[in-house]
Amino acid sequence: MRYGYFDDEKREYVITNPRTPVKWINYVGSLDFGGIVDHTGGSLICKGDPALNRITRYIHQLPDGEFKGETLYLRFKEGGGYRVFSPYYVPTLDPYDLYECHVGLGYTRIVSQFYGIRTEAAVFVPLGQSCEIRDIQISNVSPRPLEIDAVPVVEYSHPDALRQFDNADWVPQTMQSRAHREKSGMVILAQYPFMRKDTQINTFTSNLPVSSFETDRRRFLGKNGYGTWASPLSLQEEELGDYQALRGDNIAALLHHLGAIEPGQTIRLITQLGQDESVEASLPSIGRYRDAEQVEMAWEELAAYWDRYLSRLQVETPDSDMNRLLNIHNPRQCHTTMNWSRYLSLYQVGLGARGMGFRDSSQDVMGALASMPGESRRLIEMLLQVQKEDGSAMHQFNPLTMVANEGDSREVEEAPKYYSDDHLWMVLAVTAYLKETGDLPFLDLPVPYCDKDKSGHPLESGTVLDHMRRAIAFTRHDVGAHGLPLLGFADWNDTVNLRAGAESLFAANLYGKALLEMVELARFLGDQGAADRYAADYEVMKRRVDEHAWDGEWYVRYFDAEGVPLGSHSNEEGQIYANGQSWPIISGFAPHERAKAALEAVYRLLNTRLGIKLSTPGYDGFDPAKGGITTYPPGAKENGGVFLHANLWVIIAETILGNGARAFQYYSQINPAAKNDVIEQYECEPYVYPENILGDEHPQFGLARNSWLTGTASWAYQAATQYILGIRPAYEGLLIDPCIPAEWDGFRVRREFRNAVYQIHVKNPRHVSKGVRSVTLDGETLEGDVVPPLGDGATHRVEVTM
Ligand code: NOJ
Repeated sequence: MRYGYFDDEKREYVITNPRTPVKWINYVGSLDFGGIVDHTGGSLICKGDPALNRITRYIHQLPDGEFKGETLYLRFKEGGGYRVFSPYYVPTLDPYDLYECHVGLGYTRIVSQFYGIRTEAAVFVPLGQSCEIRDIQISNVSPRPLEIDAVPVVEYSHPDALRQFDNADWVPQTMQSRAHREKSGMVILAQYPFMRKDTQINTFTSNLPVSSFETDRRRFLGKNGYGTWASPLSLQEEELGDYQALRGDNIAALLHHLGAIEPGQTIRLITQLGQDESVEASLPSIGRYRDAEQVEMAWEELAAYWDRYLSRLQVETPDSDMNRLLNIHNPRQCHTTMNWSRYLSLYQVGLGARGMGFRDSSQDVMGALASMPGESRRLIEMLLQVQKEDGSAMHQFNPLTMVANEGDSREVEEAPKYYSDDHLWMVLAVTAYLKETGDLPFLDLPVPYCDKDKSGHPLESGTVLDHMRRAIAFTRHDVGAHGLPLLGFADWNDTVNLRAGAESLFAANLYGKALLEMVELARFLGDQGAADRYAADYEVMKRRVDEHAWDGEWYVRYFDAEGVPLGSHSNEEGQIYANGQSWPIISGFAPHERAKAALEAVYRLLNTRLGIKLSTPGYDGFDPAKGGITTYPPGAKENGGVFLHANLWVIIAETILGNGARAFQYYSQINPAAKNDVIEQYECEPYVYPENILGDEHPQFGLARNSWLTGTASWAYQAATQYILGIRPAYEGLLIDPCIPAEWDGFRVRREFRNAVYQIHVKNPRHVSKGVRSVTLDGETLEGDVVPPLGDGATHRVEVTM
């Protein structure tokens, strides 16, 4: 069963059946103002912070047919009453003649036809603005004139989203709405919690006269709330109650009599949901977007933004699913993860102190660098501010308040209060940024550490380079019985939480990779002393990994506090972990024979036709000594699920060893575009990567979850563009080192890099997987395989022969 198709020309996915197995969503705007819009028009909108400034109330757990955040009702007279339906399908669920949800770049456009009424509703946030626009065109496609009323509706959340759910006394006593009727007949409904009445006002308005409105949910639904969203009783009345809520569940509903619409005639209704410090302050924006021309301009600006964003890297490979992902959907998802970290999705509900993740955002940066260098730099600066003086990092932080916390480790009193990997990712993010941009002065920028005095002032600052040095120094000293890095509360795998004293091979390898980066950077900066010192650190850890971590056929993953290995053939459960094998290759610690054997073991023991499992066999029962992993049944999430994020590291490792066919097989088997034909099993959106798919130990093998906000986006993009296609930024320029299936004849890439455009054509006449024989730049043969940064704003031809 298919639920839609890709329209590559328009860079959309078009959903043609609203009854998708789970909601399929899109993002509009940014964390500054925006949120998610689901394919039936529901929305979760916030400004700056989903936890502390949430605007619409989207209750994830409600059944999918229910109202969530926003909808639009249309009605016309029928019998003695009204036929009321939603052109978004939800919440009225009427039979439709046409339903299409166009999931586009920063917009969602729902096109539907019910009862001879065609509606096209485009939802988006104009660039840099604090309002969600719904540009709604309602056409009479029936043969007779129709009197149509339109009632757009929003349900508000208290800005403190957690309070909305856990304090049913305070919240309803404080929520208030006011109506501002204008001479034109248009109405602005203002909504706020009492304490913010002079500082922060949500506004909802439209471009057409309003005959009546409602701001109280109970009155709108009718009969003390015993009416339903599917059939609100107030919509059977000629007019709404014009009630300005003094408390309770606040909504905004505006009734527009559109009048008699002739066959073929279209009426345009534009609604705006915004937030400003006062109604007065929101008037300029309200005035602007009541004008259809301005809305169209904003729409065009949005399209131009995405054109620009995507143009930085475009590919033409022999694989259409790869092209589709790399040219549109994967960089788009990287943009989303950069923006939202793990803050707000259908799976991350954005309540409480979750905020942005240190490790998550460090990795997100690496996927978005080519198209968002400025934003990446800003995000790195924020991350550095939550690094502690000792070099380790806080696990999560709120980007508005910059208040940071230790993540889940707070829940276990005796557990270490840091993660062994967080701070090391930042080293990789900074060096990736430098290689992309050449912005070396960034290294000298002073940034405060997280530790504060009593009045909240940072105790100490250091340059970006100092921050990196401290990150390395923390892990250098924070080692256990085998000299391997201590696990802390966890490493990348949040769910293996061993007693203090346990050691992490993941952290050892990540440290190794970070050291390689430090050596390369120091050499490039001409600091041979530092390069030698980091190279010596590298050798020390390499030796320890060599001595202790080889299990015979693969690498172990942890040592617990007693020195017992996990991820070893000697274990009954969790005998082998994917990250245990890929990372010794990424760090360069694994000697060639071990590297080969480790990847063979992944293929033999962890690969399934739907992706590589994170570990196997699954732990079959809760074991507090192992931690969160054992809270999942075997095959789910970290406990033997196909954790996509980690698949990409195996792909990168395969390319390092030169196995182009295997790397591409792994890439293709998790490509979401290839799931379009198996959605009944897969369930999630085929246009973005999910975080995980249930593994083959689970009866529902193949079912995906946690789409959108996952490090998979960044690593899929890096693995494909930098390791399979092999176009990799380096300090000296753009390195070209593909590792592709031998049968490919070649591929083309358009890559913008440090203010020049490179039209790269890779030819593979000998049908090899790896190995570049020659590179020419504008017809001149280069020594080696690095294209220098020309920075002249011009377009250059690069011919590569493998
Ligand atoms: C999801 C988290 O966001 C990510 O940081 C973590 O690495 C994975 N889970 C694996 O546990």
